[in-house]
Amino acid sequence: MAASLPVLVSDTPGTLEETQVRAMFDRIAGLYDLMNTVMTAGLHHAWRRRAADLAAVGPGDRALDVATGTGDLALELYGRVTPGGSVVASDFSERMLELARAKASARPRPHDGDDGGDPHLRFETANALSLPYEDDEFDAATVGFGARNFSDLGRGLQEMARVVRPGGRVVVLEMTTPQRPPLSTFFRIWFDRAVPVLGRLAGDPEAYDYLPSSVRRFPGPSELAAVMSRAGLQEIRYILTAGGIIALHVGVVAGAQDGAHEATAGAAEP
Ligand SMILES: C[S@@+](CC[C@H](N)C(=O)[O-])C[C@H]1O[C@@H](n2cnc3c(N)ncnc32)[C@H](O)[C@@H]1O
Repeated sequence: MAASLPVLVSDTPGTLEETQVRAMFDRIAGLYDLMNTVMTAGLHHAWRRRAADLAAVGPGDRALDVATGTGDLALELYGRVTPGGSVVASDFSERMLELARAKASARPRPHDGDDGGDPHLRFETANALSLPYEDDEFDAATVGFGARNFSDLGRGLQEMARVVRPGGRVVVLEMTTPQRPPLSTFFRIWFDRAVPVLGRLAGDPEAYDYLPSSVRRFPGPSELAAVMSRAGLQEIRYILTAGGIIALHVGVVAGAQDGAHEATAGAAEP
């Protein structure tokens, strides 16, 4: 292995140390949106919209998007909690956050911040495994294509569940390995051959070699549901879309005192 290649945490392919994950996303940030559009033929926006729908937030609600990257899922949530609500979007890659802030400030805003920023949409540096937020602070938390990179998936999901109030939702949008042909064949060819070639063209072969192996290593849909359940979530269900390449999981934080929260959580069925 060349010195510049990421060092694997263990013998498990698709696993990197946290510092390596952060450095990799800092490195590829400038190309991230373009690569997503090329790799998914632009479908990634629809998947994030679906994830935001599953969060079931509405005007006045507070939402958290962890591992927000360049902020697209946070912006989807923001459109739903406005007016009166707020979104906090966190990530540990400063470069990704810079691009997210630039994207957010380039959009028309319903709220005016004195300093040119929007106080209802904050991009903050935070590690998803140790979130700097209070218990029950949010009505929902989402993670899009980020959970796969957590060095401790269970802990990341526990943190998301901790900061969401009882009855609120936790949503995980992630790539998954399709099990049945023809999509399983397409997936192998696309992810194992085409994506690494795109990565080489983009000048970062290591990052785009890591992508397919991290998807393969990530728990399948029912295993992920089990991890969410162990993290304290209930009523877990998942949707497979894009021929089984994309999984959207949603769970409800346990401990709602009455039916009010449950009714809210159930109101926006996908
Ligand atoms: C594949 S990108 C996904 C970005 C965005 N959510 C989206 O939908 O495109 C993964 C992001 O997760 C972030 N990330 C990975 N592990 C993290 C952690 N432990 N804490 C905070 N951010 C993390 C990376 O910095 C990167 O921006």
